Amino acid sequence: MRIYRFDEIDSTNKFLREKKDVMEKDLAIAKIQTLGRGRRGNKWVSTEGAALFSFVLKHDLEIPEEEYMKLPLLVGYSLLYSLKKIEDLDYRFKWTNDLFLDEKKISGILVEKIGDNYIIGIGLNVNNLNLEEAKNIAISLREKTGKIYDLEKLILTVVEDFYCNFKEFKDGNWKEILEKINRVNYLYGKRIEVVTFDRKESGIAGDILSDGTLEVFVGDEIKKYNIGSIHIAKK
Ligand code: BTN
Repeated sequence: MRIYRFDEIDSTNKFLREKKDVMEKDLAIAKIQTLGRGRRGNKWVSTEGAALFSFVLKHDLEIPEEEYMKLPLLVGYSLLYSLKKIEDLDYRFKWTNDLFLDEKKISGILVEKIGDNYIIGIGLNVNNLNLEEAKNIAISLREKTGKIYDLEKLILTVVEDFYCNFKEFKDGNWKEILEKINRVNYLYGKRIEVVTFDRKESGIAGDILSDGTLEVFVGDEIKKYNIGSIHIAKK
């Protein structure tokens, strides 16, 4: 594993996206990001003390392309159970890409594909207390436990666990993995609003299904969603 450490960089995802000789398991870690990016072009607040890192997964030709739709779920699952080993708290996985703790976001995941490589970017609030504009909706491990964590050790655990879990996935253990994901499904039973390209629908979220989609009970219909952005409806 090649590790690239930065005191400050625009974005670790961007660094790996633009790197010429990028290899599987390349890992970029930043103390601060000046242009941390989230999904749908959102900004990711990247203050010191957060774990800000990205790593590379090569597209494996033995795995059908559509299986990679599940990658964000697999990353979220892997991250959640790695965190549980470090601090056994009641984390929840919010389909498709976030981890929550006490109804606040503790981590966001951004998976991007560049050529034959997936760049997996994780922002995880660990030792940071100053969550700036995100403070009402975000939480860090330190805020919850009062402890300070060794960031690099935590990051290495997360990354190594991910490659092990990816191997399990490749070996055909998706059913077991999915069961464990559904045990920590943040959206389950919540009224949510699903926003797709041209529509907004309100319904009650159910399980994450075997193909990685989310089932939603809209009126007396059961719908499956795999695109669009999802919001929890205000009460
Ligand atoms: C989201 O919640 O929308 C995803 C946030 C992902 C943030 C991480 S921080 C490390 C990596 N570099 C980036 O610019 N983004 C990801």
